[in-house]
Amino acid sequence: MTHDLMIEARGLRKSFGPTVALDGIDLEVPAGAILGVLGPNGAGKTTAVRILTTLSIPDAGSARVAGHDVVREAAAVQRNIGVTAQDATLDEVLTGRENLVMIGRLSGLRRAQARLRAAELLDQFDLVDAADRVLKEYSGGMRRRLDLAAGLLTRPPVLFLDEPTTGLDPTSRVRMWEVIRGLVADGVTLLLTTQYLDEADELADRIVVIDHGRVIANGTSAELKTQTGGARLELTLSEVHTAAAQVLAPFVEGAVHVSHDGRRLRAPVRATTGLASTVVRALDDAGITVDDVELRQPSLDDVFFALTGHPTEEPDNADLEVARS
Ligand SMILES: Nc1ncnc2c1ncn2[C@@H]1O[C@H](COP(=O)(O)OP(=O)(O)OP(=O)(O)O)[C@@H](O)[C@H]1O
Ligand SMILES: [Mg+2]
Repeated sequence: MTHDLMIEARGLRKSFGPTVALDGIDLEVPAGAILGVLGPNGAGKTTAVRILTTLSIPDAGSARVAGHDVVREAAAVQRNIGVTAQDATLDEVLTGRENLVMIGRLSGLRRAQARLRAAELLDQFDLVDAADRVLKEYSGGMRRRLDLAAGLLTRPPVLFLDEPTTGLDPTSRVRMWEVIRGLVADGVTLLLTTQYLDEADELADRIVVIDHGRVIANGTSAELKTQTGGARLELTLSEVHTAAAQVLAPFVEGAVHVSHDGRRLRAPVRATTGLASTVVRALDDAGITVDDVELRQPSLDDVFFALTGHPTEEPDNADLEVARS
């Protein structure tokens, strides 16, 4: 095993009856790095996290966390990790502070240490005002921050966050991202699962995309986006203008596609700050008025489609998704 890897998994397999949850997964996370494990529902993310955090035993393959084997040296692994599970179990009738102190005590801190650490974390995660309210009254975002704080009581060097922002509103997600970034600035090694490309993009140094228990791509966010064709600029003109594609050409990365009616233009671009307004200004200078401009970043769906040729959901589920939203 390479010395500076804090998380290393080789050929992890796990089945539940006929369901193959993990079909030979390799992962590597150097000390102080953030790995984003990106995949749709049922891809195997939680199964992988459960194995790496010693809650489940693989059928085959091996993994080391903080230098210890997750099966043979489970206790040593547990001393080095913090986990925020998808179904975290905190006590509803206790206050945020009481929950943290209790978990600190269960993790082996003395009462005074636990109280001190709880107060620090409540402050760090902006929960001071809510500290003495019972958990029942917490919003989803507050609860996730408390979950995260609970995983950090003993200052573990390695942290696992299983979908830390799923179900949060946009403001709470951004708040959570700030909290996570702060942790990494403190030198923690982090494995984070998510269903959102933008989240992996915001937080992760490297991203592993998994689907049906297999790694289907591995790279930085920029590398993954390049594989999917990157960002796209889409423009709608107020009226047809034959020079529009020519004006656009210097700003784009490939051919400009013009729709049949001649009003909509689409082209691959390298997404840079201010690109949309620069393009609109250039068109305006050429006497071409724009009704609508959109810089489309590739989504997880785009990444998936480019990598696998199929959407993230099977068609049956895709219908369900539409019906739900
Ligand atoms: N305890 C279990 N018993 C039976 N099947 C399971 C069990 N745990 C997971 N599975 C199955 O294994 C596959 C992978 O599940 P897993 O929970 O790891 O996915 P996930 O990527 O975490 O999905 P999500 O984004 O919905 O949390 C799924 O098909 C799931 O139904
Ligand atoms: Mg899961």
